[in-house]
Amino acid sequence: TTRTDRDRIGSVKQQLSRLLKESLQALFPYEIEPLVAACQAKFGDYQCNNAMGLWSQLKGKPTEFKNPNSIGQAIAKNLPQSEVIESTSVAGPGFVNITLSNKWISKHIHNMLVNGIEEWAPILSVTRAVVDFSSPNIAKEMHVGHLRSTIIGDTLSRMLEFSNVEVLRRNHVGDWGTQFGMLIEHLFDQFPDWEDAGDQAIGDLQAFYKASKLRFDQEPAFMARAQQAVVRLQSGEDKYRHAWKKICEISRKEFDLVYQRLQVQLEEKGESFYNPYIPDVLEEFNKEGLIKESDGARVVEIKGHNIPLIVIKRDGGYNYASTDLAALWYRLNVEKAEWIIYVTDVGQQQHFDMFFTAARTVGWLPDPAKNTYPKTSHVGFGLVLGSDGKRFRTRSSEVVRLVELLDEAKSRSKAELKKRLEDNGKIKDWKDDELDSTAEAIGYGAVKYADLKNNRLTNYTFSFDQMLNDKGNTAVYLLYAHARICSIIKKSGKEIEELKNLEAIVLGHPDERALGLHLIQFAEIVEEACSNLLPNVLCEYLYNLSEMFTRFYTSCQVSQWPATSFLLARSTASVVRNRWAPEKDRSMETAASRS
Ligand code: ARG
Repeated sequence: TTRTDRDRIGSVKQQLSRLLKESLQALFPYEIEPLVAACQAKFGDYQCNNAMGLWSQLKGKPTEFKNPNSIGQAIAKNLPQSEVIESTSVAGPGFVNITLSNKWISKHIHNMLVNGIEEWAPILSVTRAVVDFSSPNIAKEMHVGHLRSTIIGDTLSRMLEFSNVEVLRRNHVGDWGTQFGMLIEHLFDQFPDWEDAGDQAIGDLQAFYKASKLRFDQEPAFMARAQQAVVRLQSGEDKYRHAWKKICEISRKEFDLVYQRLQVQLEEKGESFYNPYIPDVLEEFNKEGLIKESDGARVVEIKGHNIPLIVIKRDGGYNYASTDLAALWYRLNVEKAEWIIYVTDVGQQQHFDMFFTAARTVGWLPDPAKNTYPKTSHVGFGLVLGSDGKRFRTRSSEVVRLVELLDEAKSRSKAELKKRLEDNGKIKDWKDDELDSTAEAIGYGAVKYADLKNNRLTNYTFSFDQMLNDKGNTAVYLLYAHARICSIIKKSGKEIEELKNLEAIVLGHPDERALGLHLIQFAEIVEEACSNLLPNVLCEYLYNLSEMFTRFYTSCQVSQWPATSFLLARSTASVVRNRWAPEKDRSMETAASRS
């Protein structure tokens, strides 16, 4: 079911913003955006920080206010009646400290338990987005950079989807370009029966790529044929199209293995898809007089950059940039996306800067300072390093095979799991396929989480030992924390369904209230993570949530928990799990019986 903004409540911050807006409207004749932030516990729960700025705007003008503090007082006094707020106080230069009502916090959590976690989706100002991620290149290696793009892009898509944004998940595979000339000619030479036996014959596509590249560099006659092949392919000659398709298919099968393991959904719209749109798109630039000739190539000059953006190469061919311009045109005009997000390594930042600027120059995108839609964002990320501090490679080969990497994560976590179960004598209760699926959840989860938990711009060191550690900020720790909560609830024998109907959560102990407050801040964390495209914000939140739960669990003995504390525990599990299409909580039982 889709909901309208009106019946969505949004984050706590958004709710307080609405109240503060009313207050500010009563005091000032012009529109003021409320500045709300969570604050230190000793002051309250939230703070409104508008007073100082307003005071300096009033400087020299006639006003009834004596100082910033008196503005703060007025803001607090004019807040409309609301069940959300327990009390306010005004400090120093007009900070309005707000303490939320316990009763309301408890009601807010209760509503989520009854209606599902989607109740806590933030309200974002965008309705449709394209996330361009993964995007490996045909016949070339799909390397750890593409793995990062896949993991980060999928996570961003999930966060936006949770926030009711329609996301078009786009795999912009490199399936076009001059490399296909040599690949196709090499295919014809090496495998005359390629039409029937291509797949098996080619086998290792990367080795095939290398071999054809070697010939291209060393045999002038082959090079000439390869260049001819590009022309014949691009003019649509059957045999060449067919061979191209075959090569793409083989690559696609390999990519899909990785996507299946990681349970990532993507729709392929490769570079070739946008090729037919390029001439018209470039004509738009041409009409505006934006295309110049430079060194035999056609270029667009970009403000602030000392090199121009090449859109037609010297040989007359289109390139990465002209394809990206056409893809952007398509996403804006045909797919009608308001936010277009590209996930690649930071090394490509200049490319994105340049073609975003080109798109603004031709009038497709508004000035970014205006902060309106449509907009584009490049989500850059750092390198994956090996334990030697250099670019990540395996011992045997220079290229890390992603499937092997995931295999290893799984087999390591399976070995560890088995060892533990043998130690505690529980191994006999486990079927092999259960061991397998648990090892996958832990192993793949560990790889994903290790990638997400740091700010994406930093390089990170790939280490199985670290990511599979059950202590510290890891997927294993979070999975364990979740399973433990489930087991606490299960052991209590409390019927959560009944409690849901009967009882309001009591936030008695300070650690219990702190946990409740942190829980209801989930929506604004998702909002922040979406707005800044930073998955690590969400990881940090979840890690803190687990720690806060542990604190509450330690300071309030379970044996003395009132029944409603189990509701709070259950809410914590729901947030960690974020199952927003609640399938009758089977996973909860499984997790509980396993821990
Ligand atoms: N295929 C490119 C690479 O492997 C990434 C493509 C990113 N998306 C885009 N629209 N340029 O580096």
